[in-house]
Amino acid sequence: MTERISEEKLSEIRHSVDIVDVIGEHVQLKKQGRNYFGLCPFHGENTPSFSVSPDKQIFHCFGCGAGGDVFSFLMDIEGITFIEAVQKLASKGNIDLPTISSSLKKESAVSKETKRMIEVHELLRKFYHHLLVNTKDGQHAFEYLHERGFTKESLEKFQIGYALDSWDFMTNFLTRRGYSVSFLEKTGLIIKREKTQSYFDRFRNRIMFPIIDHKGNTIAFSGRSLGTEEPKYLNSPETAIFNKSKILYNFHLARQSIRKTEQVVLFEGFADVISAYSSDVLNGVATMGTSLTEAHVATIRRNSNFVTICYDSDQAGVEAAYRAATMLEEAGCNVKIAMLPEGYDPDDYIKQYGKDKFRNDVIGASLTVMSFKLQYYRRGKNLQNEGDQLLYIEEVLKEISMLDKAVERDHYLRQLATEFSLSLEALKQQQRQIYFARKRNGEKQKTLQKDMFLSSHLNQLKPAYHTAERHLIAHMLRSIDLAYKVQQLLQGNTFNIDEHQAIFTYLLGFYEEGHDPNPSAFITFLQDGKLKRIVANIEMMSISDELSEQELSDYIKQVLNYQKMLKIREKEVEEKEAERQKDFLKAATIAMEIIQLRKSL
Ligand code: UTP
Ligand code: MN
Repeated sequence: MTERISEEKLSEIRHSVDIVDVIGEHVQLKKQGRNYFGLCPFHGENTPSFSVSPDKQIFHCFGCGAGGDVFSFLMDIEGITFIEAVQKLASKGNIDLPTISSSLKKESAVSKETKRMIEVHELLRKFYHHLLVNTKDGQHAFEYLHERGFTKESLEKFQIGYALDSWDFMTNFLTRRGYSVSFLEKTGLIIKREKTQSYFDRFRNRIMFPIIDHKGNTIAFSGRSLGTEEPKYLNSPETAIFNKSKILYNFHLARQSIRKTEQVVLFEGFADVISAYSSDVLNGVATMGTSLTEAHVATIRRNSNFVTICYDSDQAGVEAAYRAATMLEEAGCNVKIAMLPEGYDPDDYIKQYGKDKFRNDVIGASLTVMSFKLQYYRRGKNLQNEGDQLLYIEEVLKEISMLDKAVERDHYLRQLATEFSLSLEALKQQQRQIYFARKRNGEKQKTLQKDMFLSSHLNQLKPAYHTAERHLIAHMLRSIDLAYKVQQLLQGNTFNIDEHQAIFTYLLGFYEEGHDPNPSAFITFLQDGKLKRIVANIEMMSISDELSEQELSDYIKQVLNYQKMLKIREKEVEEKEAERQKDFLKAATIAMEIIQLRKSL
């Protein structure tokens, strides 16, 4: 095994932090009995199958099999190395780490370049901000922002800046600091001219909005033109560190408030997020000029159940809101939609009516998705016109037939009947027809299918030796004596499942090094992620405290029997082969052996 941080240090760090707090920063957890449950951050799901045990200081997902200790959680969720996870947790727990030797610190070339990319973005963020707030060159940009109602506080909070009106200032500034042009081209900050092979700055004379990732690193920029120059917003291209389909603007600042309020407000543009922030709506996020993706939905869902969508009131905004609402509801969120008067975006509205009215009359008065859809289907229709009216009723009935709750269906059917003076009975009947037609077409709700898949997956019957080996490991994790006893009882045989055998071997090694039984310390000791996951899974099984002699010998028997079964099958093949070759004596001998083996089962 490679050079490592001492076991004592690791244990000190493990005791200084609580896995529930660490995971709680990423997953909404609810206590249920001894353990905490939440939605697994490693796979999309609607019913919580992710559990954290404060007693054992481990986590495990019954859905996707993810699992491990506090170190492996951080490694997996943040994509960092073991050493980085140790450093993070040590500083969280106020534990001093001895200086880590260079061989441990050595990073791969890839992560080094990533670090440099972030570093150059951080440098520019500070520099652009300085140009905006402190220099004459940035004064006109400052005035423009002031005019638009940006406060000094929000310029600070969102680290807004200004890029000079120059083709090569940034290229020179950065190359003088030792960044190569080929590296800078990869960051998207400079662009190569095809003809002359020379370089120029991507961002010129623009208001610079740093894009900060969920961990707080600056990873890209969006530059707004000061006038009418197109495009209005110029974004960094996709790079190794910037992925538009994953990033939510302002998530790193909003996270805390999202957790506290258990609410997310989703905006279309980041100017809206900033305006809302100065109206004390601190839990706002926005996509980066792309429509909402599954990755965005997953991030939102992981952090909160309640989402308010507050998009522009124009046609595009309403369409986008409809789509986003559908996606978020499918993921299991409770969605509401905040409506703005025609022609306004949140930023305009706040400027015109003030922050209190925005909070109370827009965010506070948001509609249920169904009410929003009723309004949505009215757009562009003349309901005095019979054709439009029929189309509207049909569309609404379709939506009603998707509602799960009978009371809700009843409510909207009545509303529809009253509005158009229709017979409630007739409407009910038509709605039922739509419902059954869809069912016949097999258009079941996606979520249902997913849940069914999951439970069938979980109930899959495992062979007896599989369960036996797991129970044995579970008990061996608690008792050194038992571990050696099992080794003896196996009489030189191994577990049937390779991973179980590997865990067994490591566990004996762990005890030989003088450790006491301790599941989370053992998970840290294991280096292989897959083995860590299996141990976490085994630890989460509920087993009896005591293992009786009878149970022990049953489990051992199941492990050994499988090997005998394999042996029997092998012998049966040999027997057939002997018969085929008409070697009847040999066949008879093998038959006897088979009988002996069968007897011993
Ligand atoms: P909007 O055009 O609604 O911008 O685009 P806005 O938020 O109202 O901005 P201001 O108030 O005019 O300054 C919404 C989002 O679409 C993306 C940006 O992410 C913006 O926040 N967008 C817009 C671009 O990426 N490029 C563009 O040219 C325009
Ligand atoms: Mn705007």
